[in-house]
Amino acid sequence: MANLFENYTLPNGLSIRNRLVMAPMTTYSGNEDGTVSDAEVEYYARRSKGVGVVVTACTHVTENGKGFPGQFAGYADQFIQSLKRVADAIHEGGAKAVLQIYHGGRRSIPEEVPNGEIVSASDVAFPGNATPRPLTIEEIKGIIKAYGETTRRAIEAGYDGVEIHGANTYLLQQFFSGYTNRRTDEYGGSIENRMRFPLELVDEVKNVVAKHATKPFIIGYRFSPEEEEETGITMDQTVQLIDALADKGLTYLHVSQGDFYTKPHRFSGDKNKTRVEILLDTIQGRTPLIGVGSIYSLEDAEKASQSGVDLLALGRELLIEPNWVQKAEAGDLNIPTKMDKSKQKELVIPDPMWQMLHRPGWIPGM
Ligand SMILES: Cc1cc2nc3c(=O)[nH]c(=O)nc-3n(C[C@H](O)[C@H](O)[C@H](O)COP(=O)(O)O)c2cc1C
Repeated sequence: MANLFENYTLPNGLSIRNRLVMAPMTTYSGNEDGTVSDAEVEYYARRSKGVGVVVTACTHVTENGKGFPGQFAGYADQFIQSLKRVADAIHEGGAKAVLQIYHGGRRSIPEEVPNGEIVSASDVAFPGNATPRPLTIEEIKGIIKAYGETTRRAIEAGYDGVEIHGANTYLLQQFFSGYTNRRTDEYGGSIENRMRFPLELVDEVKNVVAKHATKPFIIGYRFSPEEEEETGITMDQTVQLIDALADKGLTYLHVSQGDFYTKPHRFSGDKNKTRVEILLDTIQGRTPLIGVGSIYSLEDAEKASQSGVDLLALGRELLIEPNWVQKAEAGDLNIPTKMDKSKQKELVIPDPMWQMLHRPGWIPGM
């Protein structure tokens, strides 16, 4: 990677001011009616003055895809103005705004969705949650359309792009995984069939962008490379999915990991390589790759950039230090890497999010 702080041009021609991205982070802080709260707008404004791109918290594309309390909604036109408030706050800071679009699937919250009914590829319950109802083919097509519709809303709300959330065990991943997908129709069984939902969805989003966008629009795709379950996703399967996605003309691929350097657990190739290295070998420059995972100090970022990833995302560190990019670029060696618990107000972290961050071991210093 060239200098982290220099301009970078994405494959769609859009220029970003540096190679640093704010990773998507759910804030749990939306209003009861699904609109964005003032506290969220302030939270984004505080973190948009340094990075090149801000990826928002995930927003649900259908009413029954809501997976978090206080998640802001993207499933209807009535939310366009609300979504626009976040895009405007990000643009005010000079970053590009990317809306993360999502469906919780079996991880949606029964109390937060119509009739308490949650849906997935198959009836495999997430531990502690209700059993989901398998989607019919017609409903699958409807959800694919819904991702397209939310993309159109993102365009109308002034975003620079969308990121399709295929990671962290939500609906798209539930279709790709042989553990959560037990279907016997064309959306289940072979890996080709399990890839069908994500690939059709990418095509739909591309069609909507071709039809509605009047300037270069980012289409990113985020994925989790492996699962622990015996029949779950392996690195070999992810290589196959990423190979197919890399031919789709996406603006970027974004691997979701807690640690940038994780090595594959189940892989028939060289297990001494990190997953990032394997992904770069697979992609062969067809699409930029964003890497992420426990990057806190400038040293961490510089070391990770040596791996060859095109862009680097920071999540938790931008909660700890919203001015990370500005400070790192100035060569500041005293960037805080642990949360200062006395600074919630100064760091502009909304109350519900602040409460959530107390989960043990999640955020350094909390
Ligand atoms: C509070 C919080 C909320 C998150 N919400 C999302 C989300 O909405 N979508 C997503 O893809 N990842 C989400 N993540 C994962 C982050 O994007 C990121 O991959 C992870 O935190 C590892 O990067 P980091 O070590 O720089 O924090 C979240 C992480 C945190 C800490």
